[in-house]
Amino acid sequence: MIFSEAELNEKFCIKGGNPLKGEVKIGGAKNSVLKLMAAAILVPGPVKIYNVPELTDVCIMLEVIRQMGIKTEYNKEEKSVVIDATEITDITAKYEFVSKMRASFIVLGALVSRCKEAVVALPGGCAIGERRVDFHIKGLEALGAKMKIENGYVHAKATKLVGNDVYLDIPSVGATENIMLAAVLAEGSTHIQNAAQEPEIVDLANFLNSIGADVVGAGTSEITINGVKLEQLHPVEYTTIPDRIEAGTFMSMIVGTRGKAIIRDIFPAHLAFFTNKLIKMGANIKLVDPTSIEVSCKNRLNSINFVTLPYPGFPTDLQSMAMALLVTSNGVGIITESLYENRFMQVPELRRMGADIHQDRNHAIIKGVKKLSGATLSASDLRAGASLVVAALMAEGNSEVKNLYHIDRGYENFENKIQLLGGKIERIQEISPAILTEDTRNESYL
Ligand code: EPU
Repeated sequence: MIFSEAELNEKFCIKGGNPLKGEVKIGGAKNSVLKLMAAAILVPGPVKIYNVPELTDVCIMLEVIRQMGIKTEYNKEEKSVVIDATEITDITAKYEFVSKMRASFIVLGALVSRCKEAVVALPGGCAIGERRVDFHIKGLEALGAKMKIENGYVHAKATKLVGNDVYLDIPSVGATENIMLAAVLAEGSTHIQNAAQEPEIVDLANFLNSIGADVVGAGTSEITINGVKLEQLHPVEYTTIPDRIEAGTFMSMIVGTRGKAIIRDIFPAHLAFFTNKLIKMGANIKLVDPTSIEVSCKNRLNSINFVTLPYPGFPTDLQSMAMALLVTSNGVGIITESLYENRFMQVPELRRMGADIHQDRNHAIIKGVKKLSGATLSASDLRAGASLVVAALMAEGNSEVKNLYHIDRGYENFENKIQLLGGKIERIQEISPAILTEDTRNESYL
């Protein structure tokens, strides 16, 4: 009997209390590589991207691009992907993909730029918040695209795109990226004001410049894209930046288990704010070389307060990891989540491990307890799920973390990397009792 993926629910079995030691290598940034893949649609020729992590989200993006008739090739050993958009036969991104991975909405800007037309499913909300795309749509309209929403799809059409000033109400990462992509082949210059400043935006700008585009100011709040002609774009080989959120997750695990380990293949400056907060909590963090840090912690952590903010502020994607650390810290810590309406999904699960957390809308007050105890836990989304793994490694006794498909979206070889650091973690395939008929029940015991 072969079970489908949905029927086989995987879980982590974790034995906590083991200090993590050794070395871990960080992969390419999920939130960058997905955008670089979309940007490759602009180039009528093969683009090779290195440092591509093997993640569910990367597979979905590859599928979205393939559906457009674009040739793609993923090389597992090399961790590279080739995208050859010499020909584009379809300008649609279907709901079945966009609903699984919102980041695929980014193909909108690239398609409008290259083909002057796109039909992309509207992503809708997700577990962590409403996550509207109104700034993306207004931005493309400002460049002259006619935008229409029909049957759950955004239809964008333009005879030509013309550069313009676009002011974002908030520095949205996705909107900045979509507008950058749309502006690459527009006539004249586009100025994005109050642009997002994340390292992933800088990576996208560097990639675009490497294919022949003209982008200035990425990493500041004002980005200028001087439009170029399609003939000026050319194939390139490009390496994705390291994943700062994966690095921050490992930093949390090492600190939380009072371990000592080196984290390699990162850009430490991208983690400056988070590093500073961990040091305030009592962690030791040393630069080993320009791309490696040593993280250690001997004592119980001190509590801290923080507010999540767009880069260079405290990253919302590491808020849940910091909460996992605060639950056993000495004192009371307050977290304010300012980016998403519903990003405290880990709270009820952490409470089941013994955490003392009071939540009031987007504020969480965490009173440190001496220890957490292992429990059966459920991942509600990617980062909440990862924080439960951090907490389970810190806890006394055994835990189970279910719904691993959320975690697999953003962490490559997660359990293998933790095992290499000495963490006791196993991936187990659990067959849901609901699907066990008399026959399959017998088979499953064989
Ligand atoms: N927003 C709007 N309208 C828009 C766009 C955004 O109201 O048109 C709001 C959102 O609802 C949200 C806030 O602005 O409340 C910030 O959203 P942003 O557009 O900056 O986020 P994103 O581009 O959708 C990316 C990352 C997220 C990360 C955020 C913030 C990718 C694929 N996703 O999302 O990563 O949290 O930036 O840094 O790049 C994750 O990796 O777990 C993750 C959720």
